[in-house]
Amino acid sequence: MVPFPPVSEKKRIAVIPGDGIGKEVIPEALKVISAAGADVETTQFDWGADRFLSDGVSVPPGGFALLERDFDAILVGAFGDPRVSSNLHAKQILLGMRFQMDLYANIRPARLLDAGLCPLKGVEPKDLDFVVLRENTEGLYTDAGGVFKQDTADEIAVQEDINTRKGVERIIRYAFEYCRHHSKGDGSRRQRVLMCDKSNAMTHAGGLWQRVFREVSREFPQLRAEHMYVDALCMQMVRDPRQFDVIVTNNLFGDIITDLAAGLAGGLGMAASANIHPGKTSMFEPVHGSAPLIAGKNMANPLGAILTAAMMLHHLGLTRAANQLEDAVLDAVRQKKTTPDLGGTLGTREVGEWVADRIMRGGA
Ligand code: NAD
Ligand code: IPM
Ligand code: MN
Repeated sequence: MVPFPPVSEKKRIAVIPGDGIGKEVIPEALKVISAAGADVETTQFDWGADRFLSDGVSVPPGGFALLERDFDAILVGAFGDPRVSSNLHAKQILLGMRFQMDLYANIRPARLLDAGLCPLKGVEPKDLDFVVLRENTEGLYTDAGGVFKQDTADEIAVQEDINTRKGVERIIRYAFEYCRHHSKGDGSRRQRVLMCDKSNAMTHAGGLWQRVFREVSREFPQLRAEHMYVDALCMQMVRDPRQFDVIVTNNLFGDIITDLAAGLAGGLGMAASANIHPGKTSMFEPVHGSAPLIAGKNMANPLGAILTAAMMLHHLGLTRAANQLEDAVLDAVRQKKTTPDLGGTLGTREVGEWVADRIMRGGA
């Protein structure tokens, strides 16, 4: 009898650092993953502006299929380069992954690790611990529409907001399921799902979100279903972030409110995210962009990328390593082993090294 080849237990991770500070923060995340002894093997991909500018290729033919077939997860840095004014490669790679791999649930936690990181008065870590679930495959991001009579006085630009019942329903259901199955950082249960829209002005799309939210919420009588218009939500988030638990919203509003949320929890350098389709290869990326002005200066905060790696390890079932990363990041913040954006004096590499060392010393 021919024996089966040994099955590799290692999780296979595709790594796409991308552009700008993506190329600085992702190596630190990898350093820390390896310090935690996580059983993973990584493969680097050079997709990004340099390659796009040299050979015109953003995603090689069959690229997304390869990622889905050969990898358990994808760890991404950021895309965007001043030399590519159209941002075409970033759209093709980043939005390409989200859309073509149908990664419909963009999970963006906002968790304050230390009171000193919040620009608001009197807000403690227990007061700011919510999660935004952003619809990630439709809305205004499909880029449907067009331009008519370009560069004339009669020019018309149409940008269509695409909302399907299937797309709206699955992200809303995901939000309720997420709320049911996840706790806050302090171990308490999540209990409330708030849907955020602009249905007072945009009645067609907003109406669909309203109807579907009502329908799906009936399946979860144990959870509170709430609603806010997006403008009011922005005001409330700054006035009193304690009131938020799980927020579900469309693609564009999710993009905007997660930068606002990041600003309340230490800035973009701290914000992590996951792009999920249950059962499929999912993608993990910090919320920040390529930050061209600080790129190449060893100034970028790698903690958002490290927390992103922790989300990936949780997703892959490598819970012990994931917890080690999170604990070590918390220690780094508390002990001010941070980059200048958080008031520290260390560089990107030094923060990564400190976190890795903390894990190896067993302190975290
Ligand atoms: P950005 O997130 O790159 O930067 C916004 C601000 O936050 C800048 O002041 C920057 O210095 C700071 N910042 C961001 N990340 C930081 C970090 N880790 N440490 C310290 N400071 C950090 O957003 P932007 O300036 O609007 O965009 C720059 C480029 O990045 C554009 O091309 C944009 O399209 C792209 N972008 C990409 C992604 C992504 O790939 N996921 C996300 C956002 C923006
Ligand atoms: C993000 C980014 C992207 C988005 C851009 C780069 C297209 O801002 O991931 O938040 O708008 O989704
Ligand atoms: Mn954004």
